[in-house]
Amino acid sequence: MSQGRIPFVAGNWKMHKTVAEAEMFISGLLPRVSSADGVDVAICVPFTALGAMVDSTRGSRAQVFAQNMHQAPSGAFTGEVSAAMLTELDVHGVVLGHSERRELFGESDAALAEKVPAALEAGLIPILCVGETEAERDGGETEAKLRRQVETDLAEVPRERLAEVVIAYEPIWAIGTGKVATPEQAQEACAFVRSLVAGIDADAGAAIRIQYGGSVKPDNAAELLALEDVDGALVGGASLEPASFAAIVEAARA
Ligand code: PGA
Repeated sequence: MSQGRIPFVAGNWKMHKTVAEAEMFISGLLPRVSSADGVDVAICVPFTALGAMVDSTRGSRAQVFAQNMHQAPSGAFTGEVSAAMLTELDVHGVVLGHSERRELFGESDAALAEKVPAALEAGLIPILCVGETEAERDGGETEAKLRRQVETDLAEVPRERLAEVVIAYEPIWAIGTGKVATPEQAQEACAFVRSLVAGIDADAGAAIRIQYGGSVKPDNAAELLALEDVDGALVGGASLEPASFAAIVEAARA
């Protein structure tokens, strides 16, 4: 973490929690993070829980993010949700290009190149996820993959708005596996992602926030969050319980 960039810890619930379960979670979380000054905190929740979570977090330090959106303002896209549908609910931001969406649901870099600017235009903070598979890492293709994702997905973002994007570096082999990247691997990849943004705009490279994601837990968070180019975490499994998520938020304050 570097001075000037506000640490950002986001919990990605994926397809977990009904509204009733989400309400239970948030009543446990809010007292635990109420004094987490200097850290931005978000929960990324299923569409069905967005409205309830926005209402339950009003006036608190927790922001509410969606986990996907469509790039078009409206249209014949059954099952999809637009940016305006999210902002109408006072949702703060949206996760875009999570590896599960890329790998399981065919999310493409071409679509993401439209989604990221569409989210910004609507007033949503995009968390753009990038990362390599184990085979790509073993094959020495990590940097090429990250370059392709970052450069394609950010291509249509106006330069003066680049720094508003949050990028989550999530090695796919570390997601949900308990196999966390080493601090060296996380720092190297996040620094590389920052250099790619700096290649588009030097000021944006210095200002953009880069999260690490992939098996972040209370016992490894402090070490990861202390890294120079890691400005926060995108947390899956450990974000489902208030105590473990709050412990990771606390680690970002150090
Ligand atoms: P994990 O998931 O923390 O359970 O590995 C991270 C993510 O998918 O964002």
